[in-house]
Amino acid sequence: MLFDTPRHPSQELTTSNINRKVIFQYMNPQYSKTNFWDKSKNTIRSDILVNPFIIKAIGNVKNKAVLDVGCGDGTLTEHFAKRGAKITGIDSNKNILNFTEGKKGKYLLGDLTKLKFPANSFDKIYSAMVFLHLNTNHLEKAFLEAYRVLKPGGDFVVGDVHPSRLTQKEAKLVRHKNKGENYFSTHRVSAVLTSFNKNRFVLNYYHRSLSTYINTALKSGFVLKSLVEPKPTKQQIRKFGKLLETETKQPSYIVFVFRKE
Ligand SMILES: C[S@@+](CC[C@H](N)C(=O)[O-])C[C@H]1O[C@@H](n2cnc3c(N)ncnc32)[C@H](O)[C@@H]1O
Repeated sequence: MLFDTPRHPSQELTTSNINRKVIFQYMNPQYSKTNFWDKSKNTIRSDILVNPFIIKAIGNVKNKAVLDVGCGDGTLTEHFAKRGAKITGIDSNKNILNFTEGKKGKYLLGDLTKLKFPANSFDKIYSAMVFLHLNTNHLEKAFLEAYRVLKPGGDFVVGDVHPSRLTQKEAKLVRHKNKGENYFSTHRVSAVLTSFNKNRFVLNYYHRSLSTYINTALKSGFVLKSLVEPKPTKQQIRKFGKLLETETKQPSYIVFVFRKE
């Protein structure tokens, strides 16, 4: 089975038993411009604002089994691997997974709504900027799957776009094409991301309200342990300049810490 055996993705692509149709099915076509997601070349605001809070919430990882769902190029995954985590990163995009080559950690092609791990496999799970891609049905499945594979007492940390982004007027690096839509309805929106290196990427994602988000997690069995609306520090503003200034007034991101009790 394609998703069962841990292999490096670049090797997966050269083996003969690959069902390319299956791979394609799990790829998100908007990620065909993958270079944008190679974080060694491109830094985006979530790397600066969301990842530090995920790192803090995940805490000590030494000898812990950790799962990164939607790991992308593996930058954050490797961060935890270097700190002693027995970490697995999964992503549905084989091209993005190629950027994990040479990085510490185990990387698998897979779909976070159908995890190929037994129940209670991981001490901690996190996801950075991935759930925004999931429709309502997939969001429910993703929470149920995370709950299933997480050990009791473990935390699931989710960083995502802040639901209030839809109605924010000011946005320096993310420009919504469709302002003023209905906050309460879950629907697709489109935003232009610009990295600090001035590369652009059109991101199509699902807006959903805060209560929809939290209630979906609660319905899966999680409890909400804490919630952060990241704000840049003074040092970050000095380093990244005006590009982060609006973030002191309006949050672009949100980080949830859910717990399986
Ligand atoms: C915005 S990128 C974030 C990547 C990485 N977490 C980061 O912070 O740089 C979203 C990632 O989610 C992955 N993704 C989207 N839907 C997925 C799914 N159903 N299962 C696994 N990965 C998925 C995409 O392929 C992409 O790499």
